[in-house]
Amino acid sequence: MAPRARRRRPLPALLALCALLARLQVTVQLSPLCPSERRYERLGRCCSKCEPGKYMSSKCTTTSDSVCLPCGRDEYLDTWNEEDKCLLHKVCDTGKALVAVDPGNRTAPRRCACMAGYHWSQDCECCRRNTECAPGLGAQHPLQLNKDTVCKPCRVGYFSDTFSSTDKCKPWTNCTILGKTVEHPGTEKSDVVCSSSLPSRKPPNEPQIYLPGLIILLFFICVAVVAAVIFGVYYRKKGKALTANLWHWINEACGRLSGNKET
Ligand SMILES: *[C@@H]1O[C@H](CO)[C@@H](O)[C@H](O)[C@H]1NC(C)=O
Ligand SMILES: *[C@@H]1O[C@H](CO)[C@@H](O)[C@H](O)[C@H]1NC(C)=O
Repeated sequence: MAPRARRRRPLPALLALCALLARLQVTVQLSPLCPSERRYERLGRCCSKCEPGKYMSSKCTTTSDSVCLPCGRDEYLDTWNEEDKCLLHKVCDTGKALVAVDPGNRTAPRRCACMAGYHWSQDCECCRRNTECAPGLGAQHPLQLNKDTVCKPCRVGYFSDTFSSTDKCKPWTNCTILGKTVEHPGTEKSDVVCSSSLPSRKPPNEPQIYLPGLIILLFFICVAVVAAVIFGVYYRKKGKALTANLWHWINEACGRLSGNKET
């Protein structure tokens, strides 16, 4: 029996409260003394609120209306108000990668945003450096201020060989326009490599390649000719003696060889 009695008790109390609230609501609705949002009720009269950009230095009295004064240099109030002081503009801290996108004034708050290359993160309630797209991926354009980079794979015909939070995929080099041929095809991470020249252009280039060799060859021929001439002159003077000596030496050498063989 005891638990039942306990349960029944709150009901009448609740009903009484509801009745009270209903009556209160009725009285409020029935007496709209200050219907405007720009006015407030005090001491049984309807007084003026302060306009945006001003605060209420003193409330109204039975004889005088509210006294409003303008906000200070670095302050603001953006509503019709009864505030006893203005709000201080926030600081856009460059050390936290913040910049003021709207300096604000007496009636509007200053608005900060992340610097270029940063975006607002809800997780840390701070500016985070934008994601860098890896090679093979490019940043989606147009870049959104205060938004993280969107990286997209490079389409066929485009490549990205760097880590960048701003660069798009670049188009492959068009070898045809440069009058060259493709030596290595491009990938999403690397550009096409063009050959140094077209095959039809190779012959005119050949002399350039062989010219050093030709010069060296000519030089050696010259040296050989000069040597032959000098040798020739030398021979004519001492020719007989030299040949005689040479024959003598050869005979001796041969004789020794045959002698060695016989013994
Ligand atoms: C204050 O700044 C707001 C928002 O930028 C602007 O709409 C308003 O005209 C400015 N007021 C004054 C007095 O400059
Ligand atoms: C290179 O450029 C020419 C002329 O604009 C075009 O016809 C050709 O398709 C291009 N080649 C490549 C591989 O983009």
